[in-house]
Amino acid sequence: MIALRGGRTMLDLHILPATPDMLSEIVLLEEACFSAPWTRKMLEAELTGNPFAHFLVALRQDPSRKEAESEILGYHCFWIVFEELRLMNVAVRGSMRRQGVGRALVMEACRLGVEQAATRAILEVRASNEAARSLYTQLGFVQVGKRPQYYTHPTEDALLMEMNPLVLPGSWQPDRTCRTGGAPLLPDSL
Ligand SMILES: CC(C)(COP(=O)(O)OP(=O)(O)OC[C@H]1O[C@@H](n2cnc3c(N)ncnc32)[C@H](O)[C@@H]1OP(=O)(O)O)[C@@H](O)C(=O)NCCC(=O)NCCS
Repeated sequence: MIALRGGRTMLDLHILPATPDMLSEIVLLEEACFSAPWTRKMLEAELTGNPFAHFLVALRQDPSRKEAESEILGYHCFWIVFEELRLMNVAVRGSMRRQGVGRALVMEACRLGVEQAATRAILEVRASNEAARSLYTQLGFVQVGKRPQYYTHPTEDALLMEMNPLVLPGSWQPDRTCRTGGAPLLPDSL
């Protein structure tokens, strides 16, 4: 569990692997967050059929509810393909943005990438997506290229961003209680 301090709020959050029963909620979130969302089939394929894919969710910790009933605040699908970490799809519920959830999801992907011997991380982002670009830049990604008119709905360039070498951003360090299948998230680094 990690505690995020965002503005005046304190958010207790679990980051853990998504499970197939979360698919419907993830589809709804995807549709709310993107103008050209991945389909249910695409998301399901990542969740259940792609050996390179990892799919994390951020859940708000609510002691009065069972884990399966927790609200999904955000998710992150990424691939670890040998030496390369590819960030594929990250989104945070609109009402929960700017509280560190997106950063925690991306940092956890970086941690898992390092753990699995990935040496660089790459991603594509819409040129107009200031929030996402700023998030990646803050974590140490730099722009290394542009793919003209890569996106549709609306048509737009993709910026290619990279972190090479891949390192744990900032003061990301092991903590005692992370539940992502290994180590750890450090609350104070968020
Ligand atoms: C991009 C996204 C995942 C960020 O999630 P988030 O939980 O709000 O991000 P965080 O709170 O962790 O923000 C981390 C940093 O990112 C940057 N950032 C986030 N939102 C921002 C915004 N609206 N404007 C400018 N910078 C922003 C800031 O540098 C921020 O650090 P700070 O709060 O200390 O200034 C979220 O806006 C989202 O889901 N957008 C829609 C889907 C999307 O575009 N996904 C990315 C596809 S490439």
